[in-house]
Amino acid sequence: MGTFADRYVRPLPGWVFDIKEGVKNKVINSIAAQACREGNISALRQLLTVFWPFVDEFPKIIRRGCVKFIKHELITDPGKAGDLLALLVLADKTLTLIEKEEEEHRALWIKAAEAVGLTHQDLEQPAIPSVKKLTTDVERWTDPTAMFLQFAAVEIMAEVASGHFLESQQFRQAVGTKGSEWFLAHTPQGEESHEALAYRLAMAFRNSAITHEEASARIQPLIDLFVETADSAVATVAESALWPLITSFFDIRPDHSPPRAGM
Ligand SMILES: [Fe+2]
Ligand SMILES: [Fe+2]
Repeated sequence: MGTFADRYVRPLPGWVFDIKEGVKNKVINSIAAQACREGNISALRQLLTVFWPFVDEFPKIIRRGCVKFIKHELITDPGKAGDLLALLVLADKTLTLIEKEEEEHRALWIKAAEAVGLTHQDLEQPAIPSVKKLTTDVERWTDPTAMFLQFAAVEIMAEVASGHFLESQQFRQAVGTKGSEWFLAHTPQGEESHEALAYRLAMAFRNSAITHEEASARIQPLIDLFVETADSAVATVAESALWPLITSFFDIRPDHSPPRAGM
């Protein structure tokens, strides 16, 4: 199947499109996407806060992955010295570029949070269990191809959600120009996307073709975890918004005091 460099420049397989269509379906039908389309500020604040620990960590996840796969390749495949060197140089260069851009995206996330009334300090909450699991799952792999497919999943999620939300006028109004920057940075810009680069690296590290099944098995569980986490974050907001209505309807007060005059 050629050298590492040959495999890196091959056209991407047709299943790349099918995987993205599957992700679009999941995102569009989620409760979280509905709240974002409606420009629901409370839901946006909650989503920006809940996913912050992952966004904050993502550039470091890429750096750690880069170090880990170089070690992995040196241990498992030390025989092919020439090809291995080309592989390490190209992969390191590509991942360094992605890492740098993810650092910029991290700063844009803080701007988006500020656009909906949050400070950087407001974002600094401990990661909830499903976000911790996201970080762990993205970093869990036994061969570099799996790692790059998992990086692709994160990129697909960011691109699909951004493209979808920006189509909504209420969403654009809610976040404003400053808050739109993170989302705009994740829509196709002309140069190769991080998704495509991650797929290229996944293919380059494999002598045989990657099947649709293998790619789906790596990508879709992460997408499901993103969507479930987003939906439960938005459900928490809906519950807390409903609670004052419920308590006033049933006249529930923590101290069981009688209703005050005029209420
Ligand atoms: Fe990003
Ligand atoms: Fe990215």
